[in-house]
Amino acid sequence: MPGRKWLSAFWAIFTFAGSIISLCNASPSLLASTNYSLESASPSTWNTTSHRRRPSRHPSPMPHPTHLPPGIKGGYWPSWLAEKHPPSIIPTSYFTHLFYAFVAPEATTYQLSITSRNDKWMRKFTHTLHAKTPRAKAFLSIVGGPVIFSNLASTQKSRAAFINSTIGVAREYGFDGLDLDWEFPNTPQDMSNLALLFKECRKAVQNESHSSGKPRLHVSAAVYFAPKFLLSNVSRTYPGKAIKKYVDFVSPMCYNYHGSWDTSATSSHALLYDPASNISTSHGISSWIKVGVPPRKLVMGLPLFGRTWKLKSPSAHVIGAPAVGTGTGHRGVMSYSAIVDYNVANSANVAYDPHTVSTYSYVGDNWIGYDGPRSIQEKVKFARARGLGGYFFWALGYDKKWSLSAAASSAWDKKSKS
Ligand SMILES: *[C@@H]1O[C@H](CO)[C@@H](O)[C@H](O)[C@H]1NC(C)=O
Ligand SMILES: *[C@@H]1O[C@H](CO)[C@@H](O)[C@H](O)[C@H]1NC(C)=O
Ligand SMILES: *[C@@H]1O[C@H](CO)[C@@H](O)[C@H](O)[C@H]1NC(C)=O
Ligand SMILES: *[C@@H]1O[C@H](CO)[C@@H](O)[C@H](O)[C@H]1NC(C)=O
Ligand SMILES: *[C@@H]1O[C@H](CO)[C@@H](O)[C@H](O)[C@H]1NC(C)=O
Ligand SMILES: *[C@@H]1O[C@H](CO)[C@@H](O)[C@H](O)[C@H]1NC(C)=O
Repeated sequence: MPGRKWLSAFWAIFTFAGSIISLCNASPSLLASTNYSLESASPSTWNTTSHRRRPSRHPSPMPHPTHLPPGIKGGYWPSWLAEKHPPSIIPTSYFTHLFYAFVAPEATTYQLSITSRNDKWMRKFTHTLHAKTPRAKAFLSIVGGPVIFSNLASTQKSRAAFINSTIGVAREYGFDGLDLDWEFPNTPQDMSNLALLFKECRKAVQNESHSSGKPRLHVSAAVYFAPKFLLSNVSRTYPGKAIKKYVDFVSPMCYNYHGSWDTSATSSHALLYDPASNISTSHGISSWIKVGVPPRKLVMGLPLFGRTWKLKSPSAHVIGAPAVGTGTGHRGVMSYSAIVDYNVANSANVAYDPHTVSTYSYVGDNWIGYDGPRSIQEKVKFARARGLGGYFFWALGYDKKWSLSAAASSAWDKKSKS
């Protein structure tokens, strides 16, 4: 069983991916900055690589079927916040798919290690969501850092052990699907092993469905915001074809593009459009489509947190204004809920920026880049216009009275009626 220390280590990695931006006191280590984050997110080593054309801002032509699927309104549920945010309070009118975050494979057997806390909350999670009206789907999200997943995916035998365990656990606890969070495949070899993992996983869930007579378990994966990326000098590309064929959907983590690793200027960490670089959600999503993943299999990430900067001068406060450090919040990260409270308490100025489709607030020398209702709604409209399968939030518990969850949900529904 992985000890706490090990868990902390990979959670730290997640501050970059944004899969785990912990704002809870229970796991302060989650916000520990890592070299991984410095390395991967700083523009100097970071690169998404070449596509022939700059992505168009116009929605790709997408045949709109007469019966549009309802779409995926997803949310990750951090189980370490369970006492404060139990599954019972999740409004399923805003969410169709909820992801239990997280369980992890054991480092040598690749069996999922289920703590007694997991045992208690996984059961509650699935039972509660299935009993709600409307009923929501419950996915088991399986997380691991680069080393463990790389090892696990490297042989047929280890993949089979892992897959067998995940299916067994998912069934035992009543989940509807499996969600893989390998953060991140590091080499082209990792990527081809990931393709095999997807393929064998799909086979196994089909097989299991036949023999059990139950509906097939869904298979999804949380992925980097763009499919092709250069980290640590190694370029690697997600297996678009295998994803198209074997995975029900992937969830690009479209946030954490900028943060405490570069405090020279303010920036929105989840901007939709960036005129100056390809580190943007629009570029990431276009790139995913270019590697062959059908738009309807893309579920776009939305952050329920912001990142802060300390302005060099309070009078220069646009996006890109000179900064000298991080602002409020632990290591420059704040939940949306805390941002709203902060803005009110300090009478901060709040601005919506249509060029990047993002929101920021400032007061004195403190500057916060985040998504408010308007930028969330614009992003959801973008997702709809591109024909995407849906969106997801990282993470439940960071919203302000479900306001962004509600804003996203209504923006999604509005478009589907037209
Ligand atoms: C980052 O790496 C450097 C050297 O590679 C090391 O000295 C430093 O402690 C590392 N920092 C973190 C946060 O891991
Ligand atoms: C990013 O990639 C482009 C095109 O391949 C290249 O010109 C540029 O120098 C790269 N930037 C960095 C920081 O590596
Ligand atoms: C997992 O392996 C065990 C032992 O071989 C087997 O009984 C079980 O059916 C397998 N489960 C799945 C989901 O394949
Ligand atoms: C599918 O199930 C059969 C028997 O139920 C088993 O022999 C076979 O190994 C399974 N294949 C996979 C890929 O799980
Ligand atoms: C990155 O790759 C280039 C060319 O392959 C090489 O010259 C350079 O030393 C590498 N840098 C690092 C930090 O590995
Ligand atoms: C963005 O990517 C396009 C290709 O998709 C490339 O031509 C362009 O130079 C890139 N822009 C930047 C700022 O890296």
